[in-house]
Amino acid sequence: MSTDATARVRDEWNSQAASWFRQRESLFAASRPIHEWMIDHLDIRPGMRLLEIAAGPGDTGFLAAERLDGGRLLSTDLSPSMVESARKRGAELGITNADYRVLDAQTMDLPDASFDAVLCRWGFMLMPDPLASLRECRRVLVPGGRLVFAVFTGPEENPFASLPARILMEWGFLPKPTEGWHPGILALADRTRLLSLIDRAEFATVHVEPVSMVWTFSDLDDYWAFLVDLTALGPLVRTLPAETRDRFRAAIDEQLARFTSPAGIALSSRCWCGVCRTASVS
Ligand SMILES: C[S@@+](CC[C@H](N)C(=O)[O-])C[C@H]1O[C@@H](n2cnc3c(N)ncnc32)[C@H](O)[C@@H]1O
Repeated sequence: MSTDATARVRDEWNSQAASWFRQRESLFAASRPIHEWMIDHLDIRPGMRLLEIAAGPGDTGFLAAERLDGGRLLSTDLSPSMVESARKRGAELGITNADYRVLDAQTMDLPDASFDAVLCRWGFMLMPDPLASLRECRRVLVPGGRLVFAVFTGPEENPFASLPARILMEWGFLPKPTEGWHPGILALADRTRLLSLIDRAEFATVHVEPVSMVWTFSDLDDYWAFLVDLTALGPLVRTLPAETRDRFRAAIDEQLARFTSPAGIALSSRCWCGVCRTASVS
C-alpha cells in the first residue's frame, strides 16, 4: 500500500473537515436512507463494542451509540481534523459512550477480535488499498461479527459525482477508470469488483443491495459549494488554474440545467449498502 497516496488522502480530508462539520445537519438529513439501512442491519445488542472507520463527523456511529445500552463506540478516521469534528459533534449530541482516535483503516492498530461490529459509510472507495481495510475489518471482528458499509454505485445513478468527474477526465485532470485502481467517489461502483474484494477478505457471508437517496441544492452556487467544500473532488477543483476553474464551473452549470426546477436542483444518488459477517465458531 502506498503511504504517499494515503498521506495525500489524509491531507485532502483534513482540508474538508471544517466544511463537513458546518454542513453536518444537511449532509445527514439528505443521506438518511443510507444510514437508516446501515443501523437497521447492524443488529444492535446491549453491551456491543462498535468500531466506526472513516467516520468523518461521526453521525452514523452516534446514531448507533445512543442505542448500545452499556456498549461503547470507537469513532475513528484517517484525518485528525475529522476526528476533532467527530469529537465536537459527539459532545454536541451528548454522546457519553464514545472514544475517538485517528486510525488508518488499512492498518488498524487494534487487537484481533475486539469488536462486535464495524461501520463504514462512504470510506472504502476512497482508500488506496480497500482490500487491506476489508481484511482489517474481518480481523478486528469477533467470530459472527458484522461489517456494515455503504459505497456509491455507478455514474448514471450518481450525477452529483459523475458530471464533474467526466469533465475532469475529458480534460485530463483525472485518470479514466479503465485500468488499475484509482480511489474516488465512484471507484467501487462495479458490484462484481466490490463482491470480489469482500470475497478475498474472507468474510463468511455477504449481502449487498442498492439504496437510493436524493441530494438537493437551492441553486447552482449551492451545488458548487457542495462540490468544492465537501466532496472528494473538492481538493482537485481548488487547485485548478483560475481560468480552467471558471470554464469547469460553466460546463457544470450547463449540465445541471436538466436537473433544475423552480424548487432547485435535485440529483438522485444510489449506494451499495452491504452487511458482511465473519465465520462463527463451530
Ligand atoms: C466521504 S467522507 C465520509 C464520512 C462519514 N463516514 C459519513 O458518511 O458522513 C470519507 C471519510 O473517509 C476518511 N478516510 C479516507 N481514507 C481513510 C483511511 N485509509 N482510513 C480511515 N479513514 C479514511 C476521510 O478522512 C473522510 O473523513
